[in-house]
Parts: sequence; structure tokens; C-alpha cells
Amino acid sequence: MNTDAWDYDHFKKAFFARTGLNLDCYKDKQMERRIKQIMQREKKPCFKSFFTHLSSQAQMMDRFRQYLTINTSEFFRDSKIFKCLEEDVLPQLLKNYPRGLKVWSAGCSMGAEPLSIAILLHRLHALRRAEIIATDIDGEVLKEAQKGLFNQQYLSKVPEGLRQRYFEAEGPHYRVREALRKAVIYRKHNLLTDRPIPGRHLILCRNVFIYFKAETQQFLLEGFSNNLQPGGFLVIGAAEYISDPGRYSLQRYQNTIFRKQ
Ligand SMILES: C[S@@+](CC[C@H](N)C(=O)[O-])C[C@H]1O[C@@H](n2cnc3c(N)ncnc32)[C@H](O)[C@@H]1O
Repeated sequence: MNTDAWDYDHFKKAFFARTGLNLDCYKDKQMERRIKQIMQREKKPCFKSFFTHLSSQAQMMDRFRQYLTINTSEFFRDSKIFKCLEEDVLPQLLKNYPRGLKVWSAGCSMGAEPLSIAILLHRLHALRRAEIIATDIDGEVLKEAQKGLFNQQYLSKVPEGLRQRYFEAEGPHYRVREALRKAVIYRKHNLLTDRPIPGRHLILCRNVFIYFKAETQQFLLEGFSNNLQPGGFLVIGAAEYISDPGRYSLQRYQNTIFRKQ
């Protein structure tokens, strides 16, 4: 490798060799822009000096990777979707699969998404029969998720009654009640390289694959579909889109909810 003048491709290769995160799977323009923003902030004028700077401390590399894999989340994000899950999708699945539901929240960030599902299942008296696996590439965010402690911003869409029932105030924060916390199994998992979690009735992968290139999105959708039970559901984010759901044996059900045929 010529290390005198690095272009973005060169940076991606070096970054992959060091961290195992393949930036080639992410949309180039968007990712390069984000990286350049941080280079500017760190006063590193070129990719090579920036990479050397990152490599000088493991913590810095981790922080940078976290910055790239945006962790924004909240409880009941896209209320319409959660209403449909509570009133239609989950009751239907519980009727068809009375022995219990297997849920996967892929790219779960701090856990607000799998915990929102846990709340709904508790309200439907089905939490004990459910297995909720929540995965993310970011080990640090998963450590935080395990604490179940959230600031007010995460709870802005949680109705007051649910907040009182499922959270305990702890200073300026809210801790989710233990029964819910225990119901979610967190695992570190890279969607690009690790096998999908098998045998799921409901998969949520929201606000994750928007950052990936079309080929990577296709690869992920195939994996999700192959690991959904017949009649199972896939939920994607409000800004995400599946151009040809039939290709993955999926049928649009409502908004961004798809059903496996
Ligand atoms: C914007 S958050 C979405 C959180 C939640 N799904 C929601 O919609 O509120 C995106 C999450 O995807 C994770 N992520 C990004 N690339 C990933 C990958 N290759 N494998 C697994 N998770 C990834 C990030 O670490 C981040 O926590």
C-alpha cells in the first residue's frame, strides 16, 4: 500500500483491517462526509494523519466507530408502528404461536426498541412466553443498555401511565423495571458478518440499514426473511424502503411492517 497519500478507499481498507467494520457496505457519500466532519474537528487534514491519530489510542478508535454507527433511539419511536404492533401484529402472532414468540431487535442501540416490545408483551400478558434477543455491533452501547437507565429524552413518547408503571425515577433519569430488563437478552453482533438469529416471529431492524448500500441492504433482507417463521413480521424504519418485497417472500402489511409469506 502506498501510504503517502491516502484516498477514502485507502482509509476504508486500513479501518477494516484494524476494526473489522467494513465501511464499503455503508453509503459512500454520506459516510465520507461524516468522516470528514470529524477530521475537521480533530484538525487532521488528510486520511492518513487521521488514521494515525485514531490508531494512537484504542479508546479513540472505539469512540470514532461509535460516532459512525449513530446510536440515536427512543422508546416507541414511530408511535403508529407500535400501535399497530400492540393492537394487531402481536395479538395475531400470539394466537398463531401460543407457545411463545421469538423476537429479534437488530441494531438495538441502548435497548429502547426491544424494551418497548417487552412493555407491549407485558401488557398483553405474554412477556413470560417471549424470547427477546437484542443485538448491536457496539459493545459500549450494549453495556449501557444492560443498565436500563434512560434520560428524559428517551421517554418523550412514553404515555404517563406507562411511565409510572414500567419505570422508576432515579435522579434525573428513569430506570426500566427489573422484569422488563431481565426479559431482554443483549448480544454483540455485526449484521454484516455474523449469522442472523434464527427462528424469529418478529424482527425489528429500524434506522440501521438506511446507512447501508443497496447490495448490503439486499443481503440483510435475505437473511431476515430466511430467519423469519412463516407468517412472521419484519419491521423497518420510517425512512427505510424495500423496493421489491416479493423478492424476499415478504408482503407489505402496514406502513413499514412486512409479513413473511
Ligand atoms: C440509529 S440506531 C437505531 C436504534 C433502534 N433500532 C431505533 O430505531 O431506535 C442504529 C444502531 O445500529 C447499529 N449498527 C450500525 N451498524 C451495525 C452493524 N453492522 N451491525 C449491527 N449493528 C449496527 C449502531 O451501533 C446503532 O446502535
